[in-house]
This record gives sequence, structure tokens and C-alpha cells, in this order.
Amino acid sequence: MPVMGAETFADGLSLHAGGGAFITAASFAALGWPVSLLSALPSPPFEAVVQGDIAAANVDASLCSKGDTAVGPQITVAIARGGDRSFLSHKAGAALPQMESLEGPWTHLHFGELRSLVEHQDMIAKARAAGMTISADCGWDDELLAQGESLAEILSAVDVFLPNEAEFDRLCASGLLEGAVPLTAVKCGAKGARARGVDGWIHQPTKPVQVIDATGAGDAFNGGFLSGWLEGQALSDCLIAGNICGAASVGQAGGTGGLGQIKGALTGAA
Ligand SMILES: Nc1ncnc2c1ncn2[C@@H]1O[C@H](COP(=O)(O)OP(=O)(O)OP(=O)(O)O)[C@@H](O)[C@H]1O
Ligand SMILES: [Mg+2]
Repeated sequence: MPVMGAETFADGLSLHAGGGAFITAASFAALGWPVSLLSALPSPPFEAVVQGDIAAANVDASLCSKGDTAVGPQITVAIARGGDRSFLSHKAGAALPQMESLEGPWTHLHFGELRSLVEHQDMIAKARAAGMTISADCGWDDELLAQGESLAEILSAVDVFLPNEAEFDRLCASGLLEGAVPLTAVKCGAKGARARGVDGWIHQPTKPVQVIDATGAGDAFNGGFLSGWLEGQALSDCLIAGNICGAASVGQAGGTGGLGQIKGALTGAA
């Protein structure tokens, strides 16, 4: 890892569109769903790369807003090493453009991170008014993870919550009750995932694969899990679909590199 006053050399460097919302959208699109991204694009010079990746993933970007050049681009430097990764991020204003209404062709709204859900709570009523179901990933956020008890109300307004194991443990330690959300899917890395619906917890192990870049595995998992859930599949099949998408993502650099294979892998597993 970089050390102040020294220089560290990486084996490789690549530039990708990222973020939980985009990677989950790309995972949905790879499974054949029409999907729109509602996000603020980074300002130049990164905007062109990100727009190219969004188009290549077959995700509609027409609702995205332009980045503000005055505050600089929102980018993350991800250093992947030894199966884990470290992030250095620059945040630049609101993550999503304001939407007056969510009436449209959409049936489901996914929040890429808990912070967006907390900052855009108006979207919950707008999604419900438009007849949509709602899900949210968690994402690492020290401040929010310490507020499990007070987040219970807002989390109970979504249908599916998808934290990873460390995030869920922190939220429960700070007072979130396990059953606060109707359906919780907890991602457990190479151990697979577990879900708690009306009948309690079920665990679905996975076959560990070699990790090239762990970034975005959880978001790719979301696309697979939610795709099964929206189709009314059994919870164990939703977990299997999530595990297949997560494993495809960790095997390649960036969050979406391995997603081209997931439709075939899911059909093979069915
Ligand atoms: N080494 C691995 N082998 C096989 N599958 C894996 C591996 N690592 C992750 N996965 C799959 O990806 C899913 C999500 O991974 P993880 O639990 O690391 O999520 P996460 O920490 O939210 O990831 P991120 O926040 O980087 O998107 C796991 O539940 C599992 O299905
Ligand atoms: Mg995650």
C-alpha cells in the first residue's frame, strides 16, 4: 500500500464506471432487464469514459445529470490487493438528480447505498405512488452504521435490504433489529450469502473463486438476487443467482468485467 514519502508501483491500472447503482444496473442489464440509471455523472475528463461504459453495459443514462465542473469529478481510486481493496474517493455533490415523479415504465427502484436512501427519502413515496417495489444496498458509511436503531424506520419502508456481513453486524450492534426489513439478504464474500424472509434465515454457500478485484461483487450479487426476487423465485434460488453474479464480478477487474457470462451461468444453474 502507498506510504507517505515513498513511491509504490502497481502491476496494472484501468479506468471503469463504478458505484453501486451502476454495477447493480449492469448486472440487471446482463440478465436481460431494461434498466435506467439515476445518477450524477462525473465531470470531465472522466465523463466520457463513464458514459461509454454505461452504454456498453446496455444501461439507459438519459436520467443522469451532468457533473459540476466547479467541484471537480466524483471519482474513486480503488487499490485491489490480496483479495480485498482500499478506496480513496472524492465526493462531489448530490449522488442523484432530483425527480419530480417516478411515473414511467419502471417497476422496481434500487438504491445503490444507504446514504442515498437517507438523503432522498422523498423517492420512497414517489416510487410507491408509481407502484414500484424498492430495495437498497448498504455500503460502508461509519456515521450511518452507528445509527442502526434510528435507521429502522426508513429501512422498514423498503422491501429488500442487501448489506454485506460487516455492514449488517455493525447496524445490528447499533440497534437495528434483524427483522426490521421484510427481506434482508446478507452477502458473506467467499462464504456465499444468507437471507431472512418471513420464515427466518436460510444460508446459501458458494464455490470460492480466485479474486482478481473484489470491487462491486456485492452490487453484481444484488442484480442476480433481485432479478430472481422480482420473478417470484424461491429465496434459495435468489441467493444462488446472487452468488453466481458476485463470483463473476470478483474474477475480473472493475465491477462489471465478468458480467457478460452471468446469463449463461444462471441458465446453466437453473
Ligand atoms: N472469493 C469469492 N468466491 C466466490 N464468490 C464470491 C467471492 N467473493 C465474493 N463472492 C460473491 O459475491 C457476493 C458479494 O461479495 P461480498 O460479500 O464481498 O460483498 P460486498 O462486500 O458488498 O462487495 P462490494 O461492496 O465490493 O460490492 C458474495 O455474497 C458471494 O456471492
Ligand atoms: Mg457492498
